[in-house]
Amino acid sequence: MSFIVAIDGPAGTGKGTITSLISKELGLVNIDTGATYRCVALNAIRNNIKLEEQEKIIASLENIEIDMKNEGGEQKVFLNGEDVSKQIRSKEVSQIVSQVSSIKEVRYKMVEVQRKLAQGKDVIMEGRDITTVVFPKANVKIYMDADERVRAQRRYKEMQEKGIQMTYEEVLKNIQARDKNDKEKEIGALKIAEDAIYLDTTGLSIEEVKDRILNIIGQNYTKKS
Ligand code: DC
Repeated sequence: MSFIVAIDGPAGTGKGTITSLISKELGLVNIDTGATYRCVALNAIRNNIKLEEQEKIIASLENIEIDMKNEGGEQKVFLNGEDVSKQIRSKEVSQIVSQVSSIKEVRYKMVEVQRKLAQGKDVIMEGRDITTVVFPKANVKIYMDADERVRAQRRYKEMQEKGIQMTYEEVLKNIQARDKNDKEKEIGALKIAEDAIYLDTTGLSIEEVKDRILNIIGQNYTKKS
């Protein structure tokens, strides 16, 4: 039986940073499910498929293979064998990924991919519908949230560090648009699962969030050596 920590929440709550830190500390496999949708979006861009051409995006799923590996303590994302960890974070991908992830066929396929990536492993998995759709019976279920301006500020800083040119206003708009789209999705919409623990990270440092989540997990999990 595998042990599953499921974390959902909107963009910029620190889910990615936190799951990466906790996965290292507890020896859990880290699965960033947003990366799977980003791979589909990147593949569409590379093949000149427009957002409106949904049937082409759906057809492209047949030719997409996604894998994740931990290399030197870092999570790498592979699209058809190519390491695309950097490319999937581009501005172009960020702008279309939420809409791509709204296509129901894309969601069915990605949920399948995500469950397969977790099969037989002890994992920490983050996204938008992990606690509600992918693993509703996960051992630990957490919903992370934060004020949208704080989230935009965090994302903006992250973009700057990665050398991606975007203004704070652009990042904020992008976050607002994604929140709206993520919450209004027909399938897999972002929502708080009834039995999830709600964690507001607005005034908290990464260390504080990490400690709180470790505490929550600690009640269910014995540290691995
Ligand atoms: O976490 P992220 O920003 O990398 O996610 C990219 C997009 O994918 C985001 O707009 C919402 C979508 N997503 C989703 O619909 N379901 C998930 N489990 C994870 C991400």
